[in-house]
Amino acid sequence: MSDVASEIRLPDNVLIFDTTMRDGEQTPGVSFTVNEKKNIAEQLTKLGVDVIEAGMPIVSKGEEKAIREIAKLELDTEICALARTNLKEIDLAIDCGVDRVHIFIATSDLHMKEKLNMTREQVLNSAVEAVRYVKEHGLKVEFSAEDATRSDLNFLKEIYGEVVKAGAGVINVPDTVGCTTPRAYAYLTKQLTDVVKTDTIISVHTHDDFGLAVSNSLAAVEMGAKQVHATVNGIGERAGNASLEEVVMSLIALYGIKTNIKTENIFETSKLIENLSGVKIAPNKSIVGDNAFRHESGIHAHAVLVDPRTYEPITPDVIGRKRGEKDATVSSIVVGKHTGRHSLKAKLDSYGYIYSDEQLGEIMDRIKKLGDKGKNVTDKDLQAIAEDIISRVSEEEQFLKLKELLVITGLNITPTATVRIEVGEEEKLVSDLGVGPVDAAFNALQKAVKAFGEMSLVEYNLEAITGGTEALGFVTVKIKDNKDKLYIAKAANEDIVSASVQALINAVNRKLAYDRNYNNRVNSIS
Ligand code: KIV
Ligand code: ZN
Repeated sequence: MSDVASEIRLPDNVLIFDTTMRDGEQTPGVSFTVNEKKNIAEQLTKLGVDVIEAGMPIVSKGEEKAIREIAKLELDTEICALARTNLKEIDLAIDCGVDRVHIFIATSDLHMKEKLNMTREQVLNSAVEAVRYVKEHGLKVEFSAEDATRSDLNFLKEIYGEVVKAGAGVINVPDTVGCTTPRAYAYLTKQLTDVVKTDTIISVHTHDDFGLAVSNSLAAVEMGAKQVHATVNGIGERAGNASLEEVVMSLIALYGIKTNIKTENIFETSKLIENLSGVKIAPNKSIVGDNAFRHESGIHAHAVLVDPRTYEPITPDVIGRKRGEKDATVSSIVVGKHTGRHSLKAKLDSYGYIYSDEQLGEIMDRIKKLGDKGKNVTDKDLQAIAEDIISRVSEEEQFLKLKELLVITGLNITPTATVRIEVGEEEKLVSDLGVGPVDAAFNALQKAVKAFGEMSLVEYNLEAITGGTEALGFVTVKIKDNKDKLYIAKAANEDIVSASVQALINAVNRKLAYDRNYNNRVNSIS
């Protein structure tokens, strides 16, 4: 044991840099609205992250607006914006009112030659100039050598050494394509400690292409890295980033390292991101998955009842959940037609939903209507209804509104759908045929709305929420536009065709809102 201890340099505290709204939003199909981003920033502050990377302003007007509005919230958390080394991009980031600018430029020979078309010298000069520029404007600066783990080690040491001299207080080491291993990343971290000042923070940023994102981050911390980049639920580009909840709980429970995270808020934050991103948490996901604290084997279950430590490394209350239950804190509240606003609110809060007063009213109406029809409203019904309402774009952004839907289907007849739909100021009435009722409705919508013509349905999922013929149908759709951008949307209704059509409309409203706000300026960042 002491042999191991002498080889590692564990810090006492580690800072958590959250990039859910920047790298996390680069998950295919995920785009948060400005309001959603403000809600996420507030929740991350409640969670206690040290830095929130709110986005990269040059990406789009909507992204820029979200960063400005988050900065205006004056939260107790440091707000950061990402920029390349281009001074105009940096000006835009500074103008958004953030506390920190995170600058990046690629340093691997592959990226410099094939992507940037720049020499090492040009990259070095550009990085130093950019860091100095931010520093002169009085902001904190963090520098990332993109694709660091595939860069020449001597060049990497040189560039990090120079940016530190130019004023970078934090140097971040991205494993951009997730191809390093814990031992290699630990070695790299150790090498970099030799070229930076003693008060420079070494930060790590990992991707999960080989399922090593968390292990790699921890390996770097073992060698003295004092800041970890992470995303809630591990969402992010390709296979995702290091998952915040896994990193934090490992640091605390396995290493005894302190963080500023209020762990009891982890579960609700995870649920919020699951709901807003539409990316479902796998049941076997560590810490926040449905099964993380469930015990199937009789021997385990019995032992846990006697002493949870027998088969649980941490107890669920540490992260704000109850053993084996999704509805963490108020599972005993039953919703139905007699439910009051107060208990509905408590129930929704326990799932981590963030909603407006209007949305609360709408959820209440839908529940009461179901109750009036004699239906027993289960927790799952409530979640489906809440997700349908909360995941819609705001009322002003709803360009398409479904007014009426008539579907004729049966044995030996061709399914026909007729929709009456508001398209902006206009109202349209169209009918079409299809191989089934949903297909017929989709075809009718394509006739009525030009935007539908540009979209294709890539995934359709129908879940019957509770058994029986009166079950609520919960539909999730994934549609793709002509630029291959994905949009995820949901809807719930006892009538499964109505739920399907509403989900499609919600998805297209998301796309139209995105096109209006997020007039893309750059296509991709890593
Ligand atoms: O993965 C990466 O290299 C990044 C940088 C922009 C930090 O996300
Ligand atoms: Zn990344």
